[in-house]
Amino acid sequence: MKTLIISLLSLISFASCHSEPSDTLSLKEAYGDKFLIGVAMNQRQSSGLDRVGAETVSRNFNSIVAENCMKSEKIHPMENLYHFEPADSFVAFGEANGMAVIGHCLIWHSQCPKWFFVDSEGKRVSADELKRRMRDHITTVVSRYKGRVHGWDVVNEAILEDGTYRRSPFYEILGEEFIPLAFQYAHEADPDAELYYNDYNMHLPAKREAVVRLVNSLKERGLRIDAVGMQGHMGMDYPSMDAFERSMLAFASAGVKVMITEWDMSALPTVSRSANISDIQGYKRALDPYPDGLPDSVSDVWNQRMKAFFELFLRHSDIVSRVTVWGVSDGDSWKNDFPIHGRTDYPLLFDRHHEPKPFVIDLCDHKRDDK
Ligand code: G3I
Repeated sequence: MKTLIISLLSLISFASCHSEPSDTLSLKEAYGDKFLIGVAMNQRQSSGLDRVGAETVSRNFNSIVAENCMKSEKIHPMENLYHFEPADSFVAFGEANGMAVIGHCLIWHSQCPKWFFVDSEGKRVSADELKRRMRDHITTVVSRYKGRVHGWDVVNEAILEDGTYRRSPFYEILGEEFIPLAFQYAHEADPDAELYYNDYNMHLPAKREAVVRLVNSLKERGLRIDAVGMQGHMGMDYPSMDAFERSMLAFASAGVKVMITEWDMSALPTVSRSANISDIQGYKRALDPYPDGLPDSVSDVWNQRMKAFFELFLRHSDIVSRVTVWGVSDGDSWKNDFPIHGRTDYPLLFDRHHEPKPFVIDLCDHKRDDK
């Protein structure tokens, strides 16, 4: 029944999607010559269940990344069990549409199955055993899509805001060495694939400096690293454009390309659980203030800020190789479930009916008028 309702809703908004004027440029037509214009796809889209979502992707983007299906917990849930089918259909979708397919992510402390770090008695594995498991995981996944995946997020979120290494099980067992090892294994499995380090809050100075040191050290060892991914999960009041730009320039100076890999901007206020919000219901209301639609005044500010960031990326198109948004339409975004489940956020380029946001139309119209 749920599937039937989703399909009917899909058909209705599919029709509205096709009422767009034919002279409207898509994002990839307007800006695909500057850098790759990418989007994260969920499984309903790449499997074809969400036809409208899939159509929005193929019409507007020339690169896709797997939102979840290539994470180790999903693709390798048990030591001797790989679950490839969702990733296979994701890669096939990209190939069928001539897109640059991005793999996300090989080594990440989160969404990593527990078996990775323990033996049959539940004790922590040795450094050698963890290396063997990492090599097996990376080699199996990267080899399967060899020549078909354009680039991999090899290591995700290994550095903290203060510039120190995250105390993940990978770090606790192998120390800093787990990062170069991951890059080495990935390169051995597909020497032609691009390899990336990907992280959030990259505008923070200590993190910026630590990532620059990491890039330098990988390069000094002769390891391949093509780009740093700045995730770009933003809010209305962070990051400052100046700090973000400084990090873009710092990474480029270290000799790698810059990619904005998980771009979204929450339109909802940043709320900390302070003394002013003592009850849980009040906290939830503060985090979900616009369940019935975004007020125009907020939408205007959001659109201006998004446009300004996109223009920043365009100004640096000599160093930016990809800009990827983290989800297709507002209804698909992880931000609707973070930091609390079930709120209504508006962080992406397409609204819940798959209509482009005003700043996207503006940017595309501006480009069409130039042509
Ligand atoms: O697939 C199960 C489903 O079977 C189950 O019924 C349902 C119940 O909650 O959960 C489903 O899994 C969820 C999965 O998304 C797929 O929807 C997980 O609970 C949920 O935790 C997971 O969230 C993802 C999150 O990473 C954690 O992996 C988000 O979709 C995804 O957008 C988010 O993406 C991360 C990037 O990979 C790394 N950078 C930060 C970014 C945002 O957190």
